[in-house]
Amino acid sequence: MTSVITSKPIINLAGVSKSFGATQVLKSIDLDVSPGEVLVLIGASGSGKSTVLRIMSGLETADAGEVWVNEVPLHDARRARDIRGHVGMVFQQFNLFPHKTALGNVTLALIKARKMSAADARRRGLEALDRVGLADRAEHYPSQLSGGQQQRVAIARALAVEPGIMFFDEATSALDPELVGEVTEVMRGLARDGMTMVVVTHEMGFARKTADRVVFMDKGVIAEQGAPEQIFVNPQNERTRQFLHRVLDH
Ligand SMILES: Nc1ncnc2c1ncn2[C@@H]1O[C@H](COP(=O)(O)OP(=O)(O)OP(=O)(O)O)[C@@H](O)[C@H]1O
Ligand SMILES: [Mg+2]
Repeated sequence: MTSVITSKPIINLAGVSKSFGATQVLKSIDLDVSPGEVLVLIGASGSGKSTVLRIMSGLETADAGEVWVNEVPLHDARRARDIRGHVGMVFQQFNLFPHKTALGNVTLALIKARKMSAADARRRGLEALDRVGLADRAEHYPSQLSGGQQQRVAIARALAVEPGIMFFDEATSALDPELVGEVTEVMRGLARDGMTMVVVTHEMGFARKTADRVVFMDKGVIAEQGAPEQIFVNPQNERTRQFLHRVLDH
């Protein structure tokens, strides 16, 4: 993607630090994301990628620094709930309810949290399932769906609340290799439609083809960032080179 992005950031992290016990896992992170941008976070296990996503989505509060997402100051723990419904999250584990159909899983939050009528929720849910290519599986239960299809239902569930930002944390890591493509294809479609996305992934092909910007994290800091062609073809940081060498060799 080569869109020119000029507008005011929709996500702004300034001097964000976070410790768990005695371990500082984020060390004064500064990061902006523009509306419509696809940002991919890469880095070794434990470098802090999930923690960044969890702070951006209000699941975790920073110890220091400012976190603005969609104009909500998430550094203020009391405001964390104000971001709900404005961001969608997709995790490695799909966590679908086994006793609910695909459509039932997608409409649950619309009916319970949004207090939508069953008919409106159904319409919205079917639209979301259609967007991930699963309109014809609406009445299937998770056990009747492949892993890739289940993850697409989880994406539809996140999309159904019409979030302005989508976060993906290793959304394809639990899938058999032959099922990864159908999920990354859905993610690519969202990117093409202009969704603001922050994506943690080990899929370097996805990062290379779909990211507007790649951020390499190393031990709680942003060690390097840039356009995918720069990071993958001409990385400046020795740690980036070592990391890419390791993952691309696999
Ligand atoms: N709730 C928590 N309590 C204690 N330590 C935590 C917690 N969450 C994360 N950590 C620690 O913080 C560090 C960063 O974790 P994080 O999950 O952000 O890394 P990551 O880059 O997402 O790694 P991975 O690629 O393995 O998912 C790790 O050392 C981890 O053990
Ligand atoms: Mg992680």
